Amino acid sequence: MKFFDDALGWMNRLCTPRVSSLDALRSTVLVPNSKLRELSRRMASCIEDGLGKDTHARATVKCFQTYVQDMPTGLERGTYLALDLGGSNFRVLKGELGINKYFYMEQETYSCSQDLMTGSGEHLFDHIAECLKKFIDAQGLNDGAEGTPPAKSKSKNRSLPVGFTFSFPMSQRSVDSGVLTRWTKGFTCDGVVDNDVVELLRRSIAKHAGLSVRICAILNDTVGTLMACAWKDPKTKLGLIVGTGSNCCYVEKVDAIGLYVGDPDKEQMIINLEWGSFGDNGELEGFLTKYDQEVDANSVNPRQQLFEKMVSGMYLGEIFRLLLVDMAKANLIFDGRIPEALRRRRGITTDVISNVERDPPGSYGNARECLKKFGIEATDRDLEVIRNVAECVSKRSARMVAAGLVAILNRIDEPEITIGVDGSVYRHHPHYHNILVETINELLENKKKINVILSEDGSGRGAAVVAAAVCKSNR
Ligand code: GLC
Repeated sequence: MKFFDDALGWMNRLCTPRVSSLDALRSTVLVPNSKLRELSRRMASCIEDGLGKDTHARATVKCFQTYVQDMPTGLERGTYLALDLGGSNFRVLKGELGINKYFYMEQETYSCSQDLMTGSGEHLFDHIAECLKKFIDAQGLNDGAEGTPPAKSKSKNRSLPVGFTFSFPMSQRSVDSGVLTRWTKGFTCDGVVDNDVVELLRRSIAKHAGLSVRICAILNDTVGTLMACAWKDPKTKLGLIVGTGSNCCYVEKVDAIGLYVGDPDKEQMIINLEWGSFGDNGELEGFLTKYDQEVDANSVNPRQQLFEKMVSGMYLGEIFRLLLVDMAKANLIFDGRIPEALRRRRGITTDVISNVERDPPGSYGNARECLKKFGIEATDRDLEVIRNVAECVSKRSARMVAAGLVAILNRIDEPEITIGVDGSVYRHHPHYHNILVETINELLENKKKINVILSEDGSGRGAAVVAAAVCKSNR
């Protein structure tokens, strides 16, 4: 079967004609609104499956329950620790929530090397515990009593409350437990899939005598993003990340969650869609190009996270490179020569796309400088074509993300909805926000007011807000 699939993939690649003009490139890569509406419908049906009692187990878009059910009131107070693991960096933060939406944060970033990302799970969690220990020592937080509100700070339990932002797919049974269902974004550590991540972290923390912390919540980065934004704007119903990976969460009524077994008095819960895996069961047929197939085939997780691979930062640079190679082969750039950097897999990075598009039309200063760093010399004519190629890649991403959002927005019966967004692609690309907003408004079925706003450091601030909300409800 595998052989058959591989052969089919090969045939497919060989049969897809090479793109030999800019128009051909645009029509291969960009999709019209009619097709985006179809994408939205497919996403909506996947969400139904993810929420359904009998369909959840085989659903492509998992719609995990997060057990985050209370939206922030803005009255959350105290000092909380946050851990943030989800990309090439790992962070430990101390966040203080105060009156009048006061938030103060101190943080330390530790690199998460390739060895850690692909080594043993135990090694990864030991590293996290060590960083946490170092941070607590450096901050002089060992005497405890942080986080808990004044009345409680006199109690004997002086362990520090921690919110753990763990940005991978996990199936949750409570707000302080989560079983990893698969790794994404290049992580492959063994011994973690099918295990409770909080338990693994607790074991590593227990190796440090005197490290007294209490992990009171584990959350996805999209959930942190939503909560950080909702802390300021109660109309926030969605959290979106377009960074190394891509994912979205939203506030759903418990009646619509087939497997809900929680508190009957609660009315809503944040659902972590894990939409990066949309397409893994054929839902992206008609959208995937030979470039996407190549990126997927060369990844550490082939046939998984196909939507993510079309829209997120970990992959956009590689799609861009493959397109440029075809443009060079068609003699549209570099006099038909393929520069060394473009011959190598992942030879250029996603930030090149933002840099190339940052120049005002007709000028190429940024683009030229940025490509030089990769040893690529380009003429104005080359740069004009390269800009067009970059636009195709980023525009497709923003438009497909918009189609995904519309599938959710159509479910929410509110006249005005705020979407909190974070992630390097959204943050750094000069036009991503505008394309996203424009496309959402073009695709929405029933007109409503949609605010798309940058959520400042959802993974850190959001984790503090969730930890505060959980501590409050446990009081
Ligand atoms: C990947 C992860 C998901 C995360 C997203 C953005 O898709 O699976 O949990 O939210 O990246 O970081």
